[in-house]
Amino acid sequence: MLILESASPSQTLEIGQTIAKSLLPGDLVNLNGTLGAGKTLLVKGIGQGLGIDPGLVTSPTFAIINEYEGTKFPLYHFDLYRLESDLELEQIGFEEYFFGQGITVVEWGDLFKHFLPEQRLDIVLESLGTEERQLSVMGYGKRGLELEEQLRRLFPCTS
Ligand SMILES: Nc1ncnc2c1ncn2[C@@H]1O[C@H](COP(=O)(O)OP(=O)(O)OP(=O)(O)O)[C@@H](O)[C@H]1O
Ligand SMILES: [Mg+2]
Repeated sequence: MLILESASPSQTLEIGQTIAKSLLPGDLVNLNGTLGAGKTLLVKGIGQGLGIDPGLVTSPTFAIINEYEGTKFPLYHFDLYRLESDLELEQIGFEEYFFGQGITVVEWGDLFKHFLPEQRLDIVLESLGTEERQLSVMGYGKRGLELEEQLRRLFPCTS
């Protein structure tokens, strides 16, 4: 596990941009944590790192998924908070995204963990204060562990 700390919204955006440097087509990032901890903001940062205008990245709470065209790869942004059943996710055709050739970021993925790929990067965001946030990064499977290791190198001053 890699623990990152953010002291401000702009730092969370920067963290997202740095994470984006490691991401490749087929990767999935699963974001969880308290309401308002900064998951959507982190996705904006990841999007920025992939060449997507941060103004376009908004919470897909009602849409469930937003697709953005990055410079090199598409970004699929899910928010499963309001999703009520497996069926809804199946109807969207989640496999095409979760196991496809874009980069997928899922807010509240733990609510539908049974659908997530085994190889992925999990990040839990917690509020420690008004602007202080802790991000606990954990890789699963071969690719997930590789990503965690790369991030350890990209964020050298952390635990
Ligand atoms: N260090 C920080 N990192 C991220 N957001 C911060 C930070 N400090 C303050 N904030 C504020 O916290 C809020 C985070 O909102 P955001 O929509 O990204 O959270 P979220 O985790 O996606 O919420 P939800 O669970 O509703 O999807 C924003 O208003 C942001 O300005
Ligand atoms: Mg959100």
